[in-house]
Amino acid sequence: MSAAIGKDIKKAKELLEEGALVAIPTETVYGLAANGLNPKAVTRIFSVKNRPQFDPLILHLPSIDRLTLYAEDVPRQALTLAQQFWPGPLTLVLNRKNIIPDIVTAGLPTVGLRCPDHPLTRALLNAIAFPLAAPSANPFGYVSPTTAAHVADQLGNKIPYILDGGPCRVGLESTIVGFPDGVPTVYRQGGLKIEDLEAVLGNVALRVTASSDPRSPGQLESHYAPGKKLIIGVIDDLIKQHATEKFGILSFEKSYDVAHQVVLSSSGDLAEAAHHLFAAMRTLDASPIDIILTEYVPDVDLGKAINDRLRRAAR
Ligand code: TXA
Ligand code: MG
Repeated sequence: MSAAIGKDIKKAKELLEEGALVAIPTETVYGLAANGLNPKAVTRIFSVKNRPQFDPLILHLPSIDRLTLYAEDVPRQALTLAQQFWPGPLTLVLNRKNIIPDIVTAGLPTVGLRCPDHPLTRALLNAIAFPLAAPSANPFGYVSPTTAAHVADQLGNKIPYILDGGPCRVGLESTIVGFPDGVPTVYRQGGLKIEDLEAVLGNVALRVTASSDPRSPGQLESHYAPGKKLIIGVIDDLIKQHATEKFGILSFEKSYDVAHQVVLSSSGDLAEAAHHLFAAMRTLDASPIDIILTEYVPDVDLGKAINDRLRRAAR
């Protein structure tokens, strides 16, 4: 099989209705979608990604109106966040309803729900009668795809269709927020800034570090990783230390006089850096180098999620 790539929503709809997988664009990253109410279709996601079945999936909805079909006992603060930030890069972990197959939630009593903000995928979600279960459309543990070509490179021979919505606007996965004991808690930093959450809720708790909890592998220390070794530090120092090796450079704003490098944002803009991050990792991964030398970006706004991905990629 070799995936067709196009903008045909009707074709995507028909394939999904048959239980096939379709890669879909979102504002964060591309997703690998299946009918979220069809356990057989959802099982295919796990085999195509080589993803362990204990890692639960996010269900994607066309609008907040469908939230109560899939979640119950929704905290008031969760509703406030959905009203404020959907469609957008926010996933809410809520108590699930039984209509959702166990395979989607890995048997957990909660489910991740999100309304993605991409016109093609919103049109698709509005055209179908079921939610779409979709993890990022990459092999488990690798960098998430932010273009249709990234998906085709890695999964093109395993799925029939990729809905091409161009490069993802945000470029980082959604921010995940749950409500353990009623306390708003960030499980994964992502495309929605913590500062924006706090502007609405006041302080939020963070539970994103060093978890070996098998229920949230997105939070595992090693994840989102390119194939090549990535080393974080002060780039000028790293260049001296690794002078005898074949290295490439992934920098925030400064460019260097070396053959293989990607600058994330020459104007020092964090949103632009986020938008380019995963494509940059792929470019360097495909370059004739052995290691990637990089640096943290300023640890504010989207910089927090960028640094989180760099840290995990370096493990
Ligand atoms: O931006 C995104 O969120 C993208 C696009 C396609 O929507 N999706 C995505 O899915 O990143 P995935 O499967 O690669 O990452 C979802 C993360 C996983 O780490 C999973 O463990 C966590 O969400 N998750 C899902 N349901 C959960 C739940 N009920 N409780 C805790 N964590 C959950
Ligand atoms: Mg993923």
